[in-house]
Amino acid sequence: MLMDSKKPSYFPKDFMWGASTASHQVEGNNYNQWTVWELENAKHLASTAHRRLGWLPEWETIKTKATEPSNYVSGRGVEHYSRYQEDFDIAKSINLNSLRFGIEWSRIEPNEGEWNQTEINHYKQYILEMKKRGLKPMLNIWHWTLPVWFCEKGGFKNRNNLSHWRNFVQKVADELLDGVEYVITLNEPNVYASFSYLNAEFPPQEKNFIAMARVYWNLASAHKQAYRILKAKKPKLQIGIAAQLANIQAKRPHNILDSMVTKIMRYVWNWWFLHRINGYQDFIGFNYYFTDYYKGFSRVNPKTPKNDMGWYMEPEGIYPLLLRVWARYKTPIIITENGTADQNDIYRQWWISETIMAMERAISEGVEIHGYFHWSLLDNFEWAYGWWPKFGLISVDRHNSMKRTLRSSALWYAGLIIKKS
Ligand code: BGC
Repeated sequence: MLMDSKKPSYFPKDFMWGASTASHQVEGNNYNQWTVWELENAKHLASTAHRRLGWLPEWETIKTKATEPSNYVSGRGVEHYSRYQEDFDIAKSINLNSLRFGIEWSRIEPNEGEWNQTEINHYKQYILEMKKRGLKPMLNIWHWTLPVWFCEKGGFKNRNNLSHWRNFVQKVADELLDGVEYVITLNEPNVYASFSYLNAEFPPQEKNFIAMARVYWNLASAHKQAYRILKAKKPKLQIGIAAQLANIQAKRPHNILDSMVTKIMRYVWNWWFLHRINGYQDFIGFNYYFTDYYKGFSRVNPKTPKNDMGWYMEPEGIYPLLLRVWARYKTPIIITENGTADQNDIYRQWWISETIMAMERAISEGVEIHGYFHWSLLDNFEWAYGWWPKFGLISVDRHNSMKRTLRSSALWYAGLIIKKS
C-alpha cells in the first residue's frame, strides 16, 4: 500500500468524490421497455442460467438466485424512489460530496406529450435534498430505459423520433436544472447500440447491423441536440456523456496484426462516438471496467483475477486510458462509473485503491480529472443478469426490508477521501 496520509495529495480541492446510480436499477416500480421485457423473459433467463453462467467462479454461491425467475425482474428495485433521503444520508456519512443519478423518462412522460408534474416534482425534491446535504448532483438524462410508447414508434432506430427526445430534454431543461451544474445526456451509447441491436442481450434483442448503426448514429445526434437545448437554457452547465471506454491493448505489442486490431478496436469502441460529438462536450465522462488484450482478432485476457461476473480485473488499466483520452481531447475528464461485482467485498478496496493511485499518477502528469463516481452507491438491478451481481458500496438486503449496510470497502473509501481531499 503506497497511500500515506503525510504525502501531499494531487487531487484538486473541489474534486468530486462520488458514486453513481441509474433510475431503473434502483428506483423500483417503473414501467418502461425493460420492465415489459423482464416480465416476458424472466423464466427463460432463469432456465438458461446454468448454461450461460455455469462457468463463473462464483456459480455455486449464486446458482440459487440465478435460476430463480424473480432474480430477473426489477420489481420494487431497492426502493430508492421512496428511500432516497436515507441513501443520501449514508452517502454523506462516507464523505461523498457528489452523486450521479438518473431520471426516468417513462415517469416524466408516461404517454406521448403527457407530462406528469408529480414525478417532475419528485425529482425537484430529490435534487433539493441532495443539495441540502452538500452533495453535488450530476444529473443523467438517459440510462438505457425508454417509455414503452417511444419504443412502439421504433425508439432511437427511427430518426423522426428524435423530436420526442428533444421535447423530453426541453422539459428537463425547463424544470430540473435548478441547482444542477453537471449533466450527462447519454449513458454508454456503444453498449446500448450493440447489446440491444447486435448481440441481442438487451431489449429489443435485434441482431441487425443496420439497425445498430442507425441507433448509434441517431444517439450521436440526440446528444448534440440535447447539448444545444441545455446550453440555450443554462450556458454555464457542464455537459457530457458517460462513455464506455476500455483499455484495449495488443497482447504482443510488437506484432503487426495485434497492433492493427488494437487500433481498430480502440477506434470503433472508444473513439468513434466521442469523435462524432466532438465540440459538444464540456468534459469527457467515461465509465471504466475493462482492460482487454488482443492477439490477432481474439481477446486473450489473463485468467485471473476475475470478479463475480467473470470479468477480468485490471483496475490500473485506467491509467493508460486516462493518458490516451487526455492526449486526444485535452478536455477535463470525469470518471462517471468504475467498480466491480464483488459480493464478498474481497476485491473492492483493492480496486478503488489501484484506481485512485492511477488517477493521481495521471493528475501528477498534467491530466485534468474533475471527479470520480464509484459504481455503484447501492446494490442494484444488473440488467439482464438481474439481482445477484453486487456492485454497491452499500449492500441492500432485498429479503429483509431492503436493509442498507455499508460494506467495509466503503468505510475504507470514506477514510481515503478525507486523506485525499
Ligand atoms: C452501466 C451500468 C451497469 C454497470 C455494470 C455499466 O455498463 O452503465 O448500468 O450496471 O456497467 O455492469
